[in-house]
Amino acid sequence: MNWICSVSLAVTLALQPAFADDIIGPHQQTPQARDAFVSGLLKKMTLDEKIGQLRLITVGPENPKSAIRDMIQQGQVGAIFNTVTRQDIRQMQDQVMQLSRLKIPLFFAYDVIHGQRTQFPIPLALAASWDLEAVAEVGRIAAYEAADDGLNMTWAPMVDVTREPRWGRGSEGFGEDTWLTGEMGRVLVKAMQGNSPADRYSVMTSVKHFAAYGAVEGGREYNTVDMSPQRLFQDYLPPYKAALDAGSGGVMVALNSLNGVPASADSWLLKDILRDDWKFKGITISDHGAIKELIQHGVARDPQDAVRIALKSGIDMSMSDEYYSKYLPGLVKSGAVSMAEIDDATRHVLNVKYDMGLFNDPYSHLGPASSDPADTNAESRLHRAEARDVARKTLVLLKNRQDTLPLKKNGTLALIGPLADSQIDIMGSWSAAGVAGQSVTLLQGMKNATAGQATLLYAKGANVTDNKGIQDFLNLYEKAVTVDVRTPQQMRDEAVATAQKADVVVLAVGEARGMAHEASSRTDLTLPDSQRQLIRALKATGKPLVLVLMNARALTLVEETQQSDALLESWYSGTEGGNAIADVLFGDDNPSGKLPMTFPRSVGQVPMYYNHLNTGRPYDFEHPNKYTSHYFDEANGPLFPFGYGLSYTHFTLSPVKMSAATMTRNGSVNASITVTNSGKRDGATVVQLYLRDEVASISRPVKELKGFKRIMLKAGESQTVTFPIDASALKFWNAKMQQVAEPGKFSVMIGLDSVRTENAEFDYL
Ligand code: BGC
Repeated sequence: MNWICSVSLAVTLALQPAFADDIIGPHQQTPQARDAFVSGLLKKMTLDEKIGQLRLITVGPENPKSAIRDMIQQGQVGAIFNTVTRQDIRQMQDQVMQLSRLKIPLFFAYDVIHGQRTQFPIPLALAASWDLEAVAEVGRIAAYEAADDGLNMTWAPMVDVTREPRWGRGSEGFGEDTWLTGEMGRVLVKAMQGNSPADRYSVMTSVKHFAAYGAVEGGREYNTVDMSPQRLFQDYLPPYKAALDAGSGGVMVALNSLNGVPASADSWLLKDILRDDWKFKGITISDHGAIKELIQHGVARDPQDAVRIALKSGIDMSMSDEYYSKYLPGLVKSGAVSMAEIDDATRHVLNVKYDMGLFNDPYSHLGPASSDPADTNAESRLHRAEARDVARKTLVLLKNRQDTLPLKKNGTLALIGPLADSQIDIMGSWSAAGVAGQSVTLLQGMKNATAGQATLLYAKGANVTDNKGIQDFLNLYEKAVTVDVRTPQQMRDEAVATAQKADVVVLAVGEARGMAHEASSRTDLTLPDSQRQLIRALKATGKPLVLVLMNARALTLVEETQQSDALLESWYSGTEGGNAIADVLFGDDNPSGKLPMTFPRSVGQVPMYYNHLNTGRPYDFEHPNKYTSHYFDEANGPLFPFGYGLSYTHFTLSPVKMSAATMTRNGSVNASITVTNSGKRDGATVVQLYLRDEVASISRPVKELKGFKRIMLKAGESQTVTFPIDASALKFWNAKMQQVAEPGKFSVMIGLDSVRTENAEFDYL
């Protein structure tokens, strides 16, 4: 053994946790082994060390690195978030191993929402792909890149169902539907955690925000949620349950109150439902500062009271406040909080650390310093091909008059719009460690696609908004929006002159990414006025007009739909967005995305969702009647329905074939449909199954999504898709809060969107 080896062996031994003698042989991932290990460790911990484990903090002005070092030394911190380089993470883990008494490793977490280094399309866009394999790939790569940066946990997936386009955080979720959201959550948890979050390239997930955050009143951020138990259990809770059944180790608790009780103070939610009914064994984490906020909610008198209530309600770990550390010791001393309660919460933290493999190897997601990338942002660390492939699948073609699209790669094309060349916006919000400079804008993507074949002209045309108040809001924390100093008229004149030289105009309009984010609720769902004026000016040129939308919510686009010849919803499509959009614009790929949210005609219709109840006086388009449920000043119904999206080819549907006219109790039936690609191009589409319980003990939705399948068909090809239906698809929560499938007639609707469907029925006996 040379001296280098012996030094490194000595260092390794010194860094072994003090309890290393408890670990015999390989790390055993059985619940029994974990319980024994964690119980043994708990016995060695002081009260302060236990309370330290319940604290999750971020490095920043409030907690500079020097302060964190001291906290680590005193065993006063359990986990860190927002630190994303191996060097920084290793340094903190070294401090634990070198300075703390028990050497309990930290875990490191981050908001890896749609990628870590590579930005994939935002979650709402991923939902628009309806492609579970693609979403699994996003999860695997995001986890890989996160784990490669040394992270152990992600604050994702967000499975907050929302019917509120005014709410900015709809961008982080999967839209309005319970089933679709649940499927997305389930697949992402499986993909990100892999076989085990302890694996080198897996991370533990933390499903959020439990519960019903997406239903904030009026879509106003952080607002109140009040809903019937039936709606909560039928529509809002199942996606969290699906993600937890898939094995998520963590749950982040919502900021909102639910029926008057703030989620962080809701022992019914966090204990009765989560732990007792759903048997959740992982960790609950408060959202940012949520424990302090119990005072503002008006359910806690003072900080001590807030801490007592949160801990007793079932919040294991507190995010970003010092309250647990400051007040729990006194609360235990006074007997207001018992040692058993502290042990319970600490056990949950230690359990997940065990599951992350940290007691086996605190550096498991780091590797040796010699393996650190020389450049954290190196191109070689990105997964561009996969990002482009997934992004193509998320684009939704909303209109295509007389086959305006695909465009030809010849002649002169004009690309105009404030979002056409914005690297930051195309990444989308919550872009983790993504670097704007690495994202491909639409301008770059179109240049790549047309190089040497067509002339491409560009003009910005407008600022994303001319509203100074909104510009300042968007630029509050970062230089997010660059405001052109020219007057709006000068910019429009340049755009019109550019358009006049072209055969066709592509116009990239929408929202700056900061308009669809946390704390970004809107009262207005139209495009900003600067952009609407630009569209009108370009429409007046008479050139064919292709609108490419970049936004992260359902917008109201009645005028723009009339003005445009083609309308492509591209959401925020990520690092490779510009290339992916160009692939679709030029027909190198055939669009196949479908809307995961209803697009209303006006904001006054909100909430507007496809799975509504029929009411006693449903509006009938064919026989309009004053005394029916509608608005008299707006056409009834959505602009674009849930599940909608066009293709460059045409699909035709056969009638639905049922395997039987009746379904017995505990039996099942199959519903089949044959889809034919009757157009001239190969293409993918999404076959959607909806059910309706025609007569039940409570009024049931006019339809509910109960299955879907994305299929790829060559031109001329047909495929039969079969959906098995069993009693689980028929069940609902009745007036007595029993989950039942009631006998009677069920309608089966299968289509390529939620409106135009082929229908059949069966009787449930
Ligand atoms: C958000 C969470 C997020 C957390 C940490 C909070 O403001 O509500 O979704 O995970 O910050 O960044």
